[in-house]
Amino acid sequence: MNTLTKGISMFLLSVIIMALLITTVLAFLLGFTHPLPWILIFILIIIPFIHEVILKKQLIKWQDSMSTGIQLVDEDHQILINLINELQTATQFKVEQKKIDEIMQRLISYTKYHFDREETLMRNNHYPDYENHKKLHQEMIAKINDCTSKYHSDQDHTIYDALDFLKTWLINHIKGSDREYIPYIKNIELSGHDHKI
Ligand code: FEO
Repeated sequence: MNTLTKGISMFLLSVIIMALLITTVLAFLLGFTHPLPWILIFILIIIPFIHEVILKKQLIKWQDSMSTGIQLVDEDHQILINLINELQTATQFKVEQKKIDEIMQRLISYTKYHFDREETLMRNNHYPDYENHKKLHQEMIAKINDCTSKYHSDQDHTIYDALDFLKTWLINHIKGSDREYIPYIKNIELSGHDHKI
């Protein structure tokens, strides 16, 4: 959902809630025993639940088609998906800026860590398309850095752009380029430190 669509959706939701509130008050003029105001109150109560269900549907869900069958890669990808979902939830619920920055930094840091591990795996296994895959990673990091700096100068407008980009890029990359090296990865031993999430 882009910035404009999100803005329109939030505006429409606010208008609907306001209209329902006013109609509910007016409906009580029909009398407390009339069912209409109570039906309207019920609708007002369930709106937040429906809204939450809609928001949850926008989160990325792990699918079998994303699995590379290489445990450490799949675990990294799941962590990245969770971080993107965490960022999306934080922006939707308008949590404080400091928290959004903190999630964004964890996401960038873990993305770099994952790319580094994946590239080591590819090098260790002499993956023939290593250079091109590494270039995709470098372009991704450059794009995230660009989104982050724009986000700091124009926060409301670019956090959604950054999120849309991250979600689309990650899913396409995991389902596309990351599957191409699978047949070449025989040695999955990696030395190195764990990364704090
Ligand atoms: Fe899993 Fe090529 O990133």
